[in-house]
Amino acid sequence: MAIARPHLTSAPSSAATPSTSGRGAPALRVVGGPATARATPRAAAPFVKWVGGKKRLLAALTPLLPRAVSRYAEPFVGGGAMFYELHGRGDLTHAVLADVNRDVVTAYRVVQRDPEALISALQLHERRYLKLSAEGRKAYFYKVRARHPMDVDMDDVERAARMLFLNRTCFNGLWRENRSGRFNTPHGRYANPRIARAPELRACHAALSSAVVLERDFRLLPQLARDHDLDFVYLDPPYHPISATSAFNAYSNGGFGSRDQTELAEVCAELDRMGVRFMLSNSDCDLIRGLYAKFEVREVMAPRAVNCKGSKRGKVSELVVRNVRPGLGW
Ligand SMILES: C[S@@+](CC[C@H](N)C(=O)[O-])C[C@H]1O[C@@H](n2cnc3c(N)ncnc32)[C@H](O)[C@@H]1O
Repeated sequence: MAIARPHLTSAPSSAATPSTSGRGAPALRVVGGPATARATPRAAAPFVKWVGGKKRLLAALTPLLPRAVSRYAEPFVGGGAMFYELHGRGDLTHAVLADVNRDVVTAYRVVQRDPEALISALQLHERRYLKLSAEGRKAYFYKVRARHPMDVDMDDVERAARMLFLNRTCFNGLWRENRSGRFNTPHGRYANPRIARAPELRACHAALSSAVVLERDFRLLPQLARDHDLDFVYLDPPYHPISATSAFNAYSNGGFGSRDQTELAEVCAELDRMGVRFMLSNSDCDLIRGLYAKFEVREVMAPRAVNCKGSKRGKVSELVVRNVRPGLGW
């Protein structure tokens, strides 16, 4: 049974009870549905701005997706652009979204379980921040940034609101952490940032109501594939740097090196042995081409996102790896 696409006309129910197991889990909850629709629903889209977010590359990636996807996982979910795309098609029956970044995972869980509390907390930040002078906003931003969940007791709603406030007011929306796991991007200069974004969060709440959200390292993916009987996985890891200055992989304190890329290729080979279809994005470089030589490797042209110099933005070739072969149902 496919999940009906959600229709949201007002504040949604906060009674989402995501399943935590695989096939034996309770039936998927559908929020709203055609019968209850009273207005055009808003399509859900990433609620965090994330470096490497796939929103702008979806047009190039979607033609490469399998014809049908039912039980899906995204182990480097970040902003989750691909999840929302697949959800919007209406044929997902089960979705597992995972990431190692605790702030992003907490934000997903709060959007899933308590969106109205999150919206209220963000509206408070928005009212306080927008009425300040430029200097006042800067001071407010650094005060919120300095109040870190590792030092201060913070419930999940407060933590998610802190994260989204910082994401929407920091330089370029860049979530970057130092080695000790502290967000360290400076203040941005948006004239009138939309901080609360209630309609967008409610649309995400509806899309996420039946997803399983986990704080997990990608190495646990084969186990997840077994437990959740997955039929397709989209992997969007931190990209291997193509030059010393092109690297951005500080999403979380651990970084992501060549050894991680090699272990990830082993995880993909394991998925392939299990008969699980996978599609992976990465940079176009010798290491990645070598690691996935036995699979189909395609080039796609992508906008180059992380560069403060406008002149260096342009387009760059990226790789898409898939285990396309007869019998796997591509
Ligand atoms: C390129 S981003 C994903 C972007 C996402 N596809 C989107 O559309 O926004 C890579 C993500 O991998 C996560 N990550 C880094 N190391 C990881 C690991 N060892 N296991 C799981 N996730 C990891 C980061 O926190 C980050 O969210």
